[in-house]
Amino acid sequence: MGAVRRSHVAALAIVTALLLFLLTRLPPPAALPLPPAPQVYRDTTTAPPTPVTNKTTAAPPLTSPIAPVKSVPVSPVSPPKAAAKNGSLPVLTGDVYVAGHEKPHPELCPSLGAKLRLLILVTSAPSHSAARDAVRMTWGHFAVRSDIAFAFVIGVPPDTMRPAIEAEDTLYGDIIVGRFMDSYSNLTLKTLSMLEWVDTYCPRVQRLLKTDDDMFINVPKLIEFMKAPSRVNATKTIWGKVVKKSLPKRTSRSKYFVSPLQFPGKVFPDFTTGPAYLLTTDVIRLILAAAPSQPYLRLEDVFITGVLGNKLGIKRQHATEFYNRKIAHPCAVQRGVSVHMVRYHEQFDLWRKLLDGKMKCAS
Ligand SMILES: *[C@@H]1O[C@H](CO)[C@@H](O)[C@H](O)[C@H]1NC(C)=O
Ligand SMILES: *[C@@H]1O[C@H](CO)[C@@H](O)[C@H](O)[C@H]1NC(C)=O
Ligand SMILES: *[C@@H]1O[C@H](CO)[C@@H](O)[C@H](O)[C@H]1NC(C)=O
Ligand SMILES: *[C@@H]1O[C@H](CO)[C@@H](O)[C@H](O)[C@H]1NC(C)=O
Repeated sequence: MGAVRRSHVAALAIVTALLLFLLTRLPPPAALPLPPAPQVYRDTTTAPPTPVTNKTTAAPPLTSPIAPVKSVPVSPVSPPKAAAKNGSLPVLTGDVYVAGHEKPHPELCPSLGAKLRLLILVTSAPSHSAARDAVRMTWGHFAVRSDIAFAFVIGVPPDTMRPAIEAEDTLYGDIIVGRFMDSYSNLTLKTLSMLEWVDTYCPRVQRLLKTDDDMFINVPKLIEFMKAPSRVNATKTIWGKVVKKSLPKRTSRSKYFVSPLQFPGKVFPDFTTGPAYLLTTDVIRLILAAAPSQPYLRLEDVFITGVLGNKLGIKRQHATEFYNRKIAHPCAVQRGVSVHMVRYHEQFDLWRKLLDGKMKCAS
């Protein structure tokens, strides 16, 4: 018995020694599951954010605005690490975000935004040319004001669509093209690209409205909103339709599916819904600095205004004027800042309702 036990012990010791030896020799196992939510963030006070460039030395832009889009070599996808593919590590935002713009249009923001009251950037998709036209012909007209700048932001169009986008941009000069493939799962990259553009080409503007091409924006109302004494000097704030206690969808069939690796918490931090939100531009650099080390989350509003907003101590303020839903009543249109789900012909309908002055609405 004793001999048997001794030989067991000896065998065990040899195996253990072997294992220890192997472990010290092996590189750190990339595929081992990490504890959820590595709370490692870049320190924004010491580390310069990667996408941020020195304003005085940043220009010239990477490509001339008139250079054909096609001449730019783009590798929009940095392949996610093997381990991330296997679902054991989150894909970090910094691994998928490619800085820079194919068509930056720096001229859209004169004096780096110093004389602007408001910058309106509208996320769009290459195929949405009709929606862009409807916006240009209606509320986008406020871009003629010298204190407002306006542009669309899209991702890299498929080759078949490049000539049409080129032609449209030659006509209007208002399409900023980021370095990512335009797709639903890349909406977060679109917003980051937008913020990077502001940081690079329009860093002195005080307020940014982020909105979409299926929105109607009541610009005079928005300006009134911004001018309110309680808001005019606000800092580190995002205004919009705030959603509280929203739960991540954990069934993989959902359009809004979020894995615990992408977001480990039970409840999303308060966020402002994506169709329209207004930011004080002091938050932009903070967001750009903090985003790369965060797990990529394709719900752009949750990621930008919720996860990062919460992390960075940005106030998210609910404003009833941001309807961010479908509204047809003309008086509601006059009272609100933003209306969602607006189709081509409805832009004209809402525009007329806003401007024709025939309505009798109790204010
Ligand atoms: C930005 O560029 C200016 C002018 O070249 C230089 O004086 C300044 O030190 C630079 N700042 C940073 C943060 O690199
Ligand atoms: C990758 O995932 C599969 C299925 O979940 C698993 O069987 C496999 O062991 C994993 N491989 C690594 C290297 O983690
Ligand atoms: C963008 O979306 C496409 C398709 O959904 C995806 O293959 C790609 O990895 C995404 N990222 C970038 C940077 O284009
Ligand atoms: C906002 O700041 C400006 C400049 O400091 C100041 O003159 C003004 O009174 C402030 N307005 C409010 C409502 O606090």
